Amino acid sequence: MTTTRTFVGPDEPFRSTVTLPGDKSLSHRALVLAAMAPGKSHIARVGPGADIASTVTCLRCFGVVVDGTTVRSRGVGGWEPSVEMLDSGNSASTLRMIAGAAAGRPFTTVLGGDASLLRRPMRRLAEPLAALGAAIVVSEDGTAPVTVRGAALRGAQVTIPVASAQVRTAFAFAALQADGESGLDSPPGFRDHTERWLTALGLGTPSGPTAFRIRPGIVPELELSIPGDPSSAGFLWAAAALTPSRVTTPGVSLNPGRIGLLEVIAAMGASVEIATAGDILGDPVGTVTVQGPVLRGTRVTGALTVRTLDELPLVGVLAAVAEGETTVTGARELRAKESDRIAATVALVTALGGSAEASADGFSVRGSGLCPGLFDAGGDHRMAMSAAVAATAAGTVRVIGVETAAVSWPGFAETLERVWSSR
Ligand code: S3P
Repeated sequence: MTTTRTFVGPDEPFRSTVTLPGDKSLSHRALVLAAMAPGKSHIARVGPGADIASTVTCLRCFGVVVDGTTVRSRGVGGWEPSVEMLDSGNSASTLRMIAGAAAGRPFTTVLGGDASLLRRPMRRLAEPLAALGAAIVVSEDGTAPVTVRGAALRGAQVTIPVASAQVRTAFAFAALQADGESGLDSPPGFRDHTERWLTALGLGTPSGPTAFRIRPGIVPELELSIPGDPSSAGFLWAAAALTPSRVTTPGVSLNPGRIGLLEVIAAMGASVEIATAGDILGDPVGTVTVQGPVLRGTRVTGALTVRTLDELPLVGVLAAVAEGETTVTGARELRAKESDRIAATVALVTALGGSAEASADGFSVRGSGLCPGLFDAGGDHRMAMSAAVAATAAGTVRVIGVETAAVSWPGFAETLERVWSSR
């Protein structure tokens, strides 16, 4: 059922410290790796969203036991075939990463998902897995359902034409099961969580700025606590940056491929403090404080665009209140997300009285302020949450389809309202 919610932004600046839900990207990886490891793993603080529940549901279809924070498996070699089609829901990460792990099993797995997922590109997944010897069938237009005919895999060297961390991860999970070393490369900017973790686990090694080698081997049992989600934090960082307010987020993943939004916010004139506190399997974690407001427009291009990809709708909102023009280029991938986020970002800014224009691979926004309005999120969780955040500057925003926030952050609306009222 579609729910409409009215968000009324704060009258006064706010100050808040927020503990974030466990990171979605790391939760998918931790669960799939734990399911590939023979034995018992403990993964604390997995993300609470529906996307993570989809990964758990799919892993259970292979006979993996996930019980609270415990994952028990006979190892990927002991996975049982699933007669049912695996339902990845709204989650491309689920579908692609599990397809990778299943590619080394001697049986067929079929993966599908909801209407949005069935529109997303899958040839980019099929080609690298085929290079390892698996047979991957996608529909005629290159989308899901995806049929994975697993095989005994041989090591291979691939260059993936898009900077997709999901595809890199899928390839790596398959290559762990091959008969020899494999290598991958792609354009820069991707989140390198998988590469850092496999390096720390002795299952891979970087072989260039963007190149990585995978050493086949048994994944060891894992004992991990997932850090806070920087993509969720991004909504609160943006809220602070829209006004002279301050938000602090401790314990958040600081993977360089995840925090492009902070570079953009700083370039727009707001204050950003990043304090690294440690790492989890080589992936940095720390505290971020953002103090607004943003002052001026900026240019987001090249690898910075990739590092900011999931947060670009928020850049559109920030740009609408900054002085001058902001342009985003190199973001064609945004059109292949849960919705066409180039069109959706332009629609959001214009629905709230701002001035925005789409290009083939990005958008430009002329800062002219935001005013109250109504926005239909079109079933896309990040668009619903970006629209709610826009109320920080616009005053009142009615968001149609606010329930989709639960895909990545159930309780988001209540958290945002609590942050707005913190002094
Ligand atoms: C993700 C990688 C990105 C990102 C997605 C999660 C991941 O997608 O947009 O939300 O966890 O690896 P691509 O790798 O397809 O660009």
